[in-house]
Amino acid sequence: MTSTTETSASGPAGEFAGVRVLVTGGTKGIGAAIAIRFAEAGADVVVAARTPVDEPPAGKFVAADLATAEGTADLAARATRLLGGVDVLVNNAGSQTYLPGGALDATDDDWYRDLDTNLMSAVRLDRALLPGMIARHHGVIVHITSGQARLPGAASLPYAAAKAATTVYSKGLANEVGKHGIRVNTVVPGLIETPAVSRRLDRISADSGRDAETARRELIDRVGIPLGHPGRPADVAELVAFLSSDRAAYLTGSQYVVDGGSIPTV
Ligand SMILES: NC(=O)c1ccc[n+]([C@@H]2O[C@H](COP(=O)([O-])OP(=O)(O)OC[C@H]3O[C@@H](n4cnc5c(N)ncnc54)[C@H](OP(=O)(O)O)[C@@H]3O)[C@@H](O)[C@H]2O)c1
Repeated sequence: MTSTTETSASGPAGEFAGVRVLVTGGTKGIGAAIAIRFAEAGADVVVAARTPVDEPPAGKFVAADLATAEGTADLAARATRLLGGVDVLVNNAGSQTYLPGGALDATDDDWYRDLDTNLMSAVRLDRALLPGMIARHHGVIVHITSGQARLPGAASLPYAAAKAATTVYSKGLANEVGKHGIRVNTVVPGLIETPAVSRRLDRISADSGRDAETARRELIDRVGIPLGHPGRPADVAELVAFLSSDRAAYLTGSQYVVDGGSIPTV
């Protein structure tokens, strides 16, 4: 990764020139902001999601369902072809099954859906792309987890458990591939205003009969955010960019929260 002496608040200009980046779930929300952040710093970017988009937020788009083994294998092959190799892999795609009746309502299908989408998507993609990184003796992997890995919500326990499993997996992977010059870290967002959170607010206001703004205020109060407001996707993107840069050359096997202060430390 190249560096220049010209710097800005968000790092050296052109910091990612020539760096090849794959962002899963890169068409919306946090993933879109990450893709834009890398592209603005000169990276070659591929974004992936299930729903085709006319105009990706940055770089090239590949359609793939990452909850399936075929989808991850296909994405790994196509991203490698498009980019010529992947230097930075951001495993951001994720979603949660909403269980208004609580965790005991979760069926096996609910569990496997959330494990496939949030954990196995990353496991499979890492496994497919790591041989190339190992051969080049460099690479960065970022796993996007969730504050729910520490504070599981009753209405989304399969998701919380999948994110907690991803945290442990990420640490173990960092231990294993550090000797090959590859760094692996976890980014833990708190409440970030994205299409996923809008969908959650729509559900809350439909269930409770409250208007959208009241539902939003109540969610913010319930989460308890010392900074008083949800984060922006760009706040997460900035942390991902830092962790992927040479400025973070000695950082691996760890978790970094971006949460306005909401997630307890233990
Ligand atoms: N927003 C928050 O407050 C928050 C908090 C903690 C953690 N997170 C985590 O941050 C990540 C991004 O969340 P977000 O809020 O930005 O979500 P979002 O607005 O719903 O965007 C999710 C992205 O992932 C893609 N995606 C979902 N399932 C996929 C699948 N099976 N295969 C391929 N792509 C898939 C979506 O596109 P398609 O639907 O078209 O496939 C979309 O591009 C997730 O891992 C989430 O768990 C978010």
